[in-house]
Amino acid sequence: MRVIKSARVMSQACRQAPHPLGLVPTMGALHDGHLSLVRRARAENRTVAVSIFVNPAQFGNPQDLECYPEDLERDLDLVRREGVDLVFTPTAKEIYPAGFDTWVEVGAIGDKLEGAHRPGHFRGVATVVAKLFNLVRPDLAYFGQKDGQQTVVIQQMVRDLDLGLTVVVCPTVRQADGLALSSRNVHLTPEQREAAAGVYQAILRADELWRSGEKKASVLRQQVRKILENQLLIDGIDYVSVAAAGTLDELDDSNESIQDVVPGTMVSVAVHYGQVRLIDNILLD
Ligand code: PAF
Repeated sequence: MRVIKSARVMSQACRQAPHPLGLVPTMGALHDGHLSLVRRARAENRTVAVSIFVNPAQFGNPQDLECYPEDLERDLDLVRREGVDLVFTPTAKEIYPAGFDTWVEVGAIGDKLEGAHRPGHFRGVATVVAKLFNLVRPDLAYFGQKDGQQTVVIQQMVRDLDLGLTVVVCPTVRQADGLALSSRNVHLTPEQREAAAGVYQAILRADELWRSGEKKASVLRQQVRKILENQLLIDGIDYVSVAAAGTLDELDDSNESIQDVVPGTMVSVAVHYGQVRLIDNILLD
């Protein structure tokens, strides 16, 4: 496994490597969710590249950036065991050298949900991902459904900018009680950790209602919110969304059978446990 810090060397190595080449972009602090992406990439490509870069451009809040967990040696160990070929571990200066001033602006899709609560977040994500795609030129790139809006934003960018690669979205990996794996979970207290399983229970309720025939988005939203509001350790709810999976436009009740009209519905939430902000989502159907 080659560990490469330089963008120029990474680009060269990727051009010389056997294709198809699969890229798994990460910010490190790897867990089984990331490793599921790596395994899928390993199964589908001749070369697997992983990037580990905590991208300052996608953090609005400097404290959030500072607290982001980092353990490069452990991460390298984990990906080595998965048979990864190339790991890109650039510094911030390598990605954003002095004078860097070109950004990928995301349209309306980036202003909703996460974008509304973290202004500039998706501009930072889209810019770094576009740079990684240009350096690595992957045939396939792997992302987790856990960051549901991010997958929609990246797919839109790939389409709009004719980036000519396939975005593979892999299922969310959960702990036994349903909590979605996230690098932020390590910041939960034991009590918060136990309570946080309730986030999944809340969105599962929407799935249950949906399957039993309840198609009104307002009812699904209200029921999910009610469950979250009854959870004592939750300090705030940023949003409860029931939206078209492809556009993230909020659904209304105008059509009793929204299922027929919009293929795919995403129920997503963002909540706070003290300083820790958790997101999760579920696709109906
Ligand atoms: O999902 C992440 O870890 C990040 O947003 C990504 C895609 C690696 C871009 O920094």
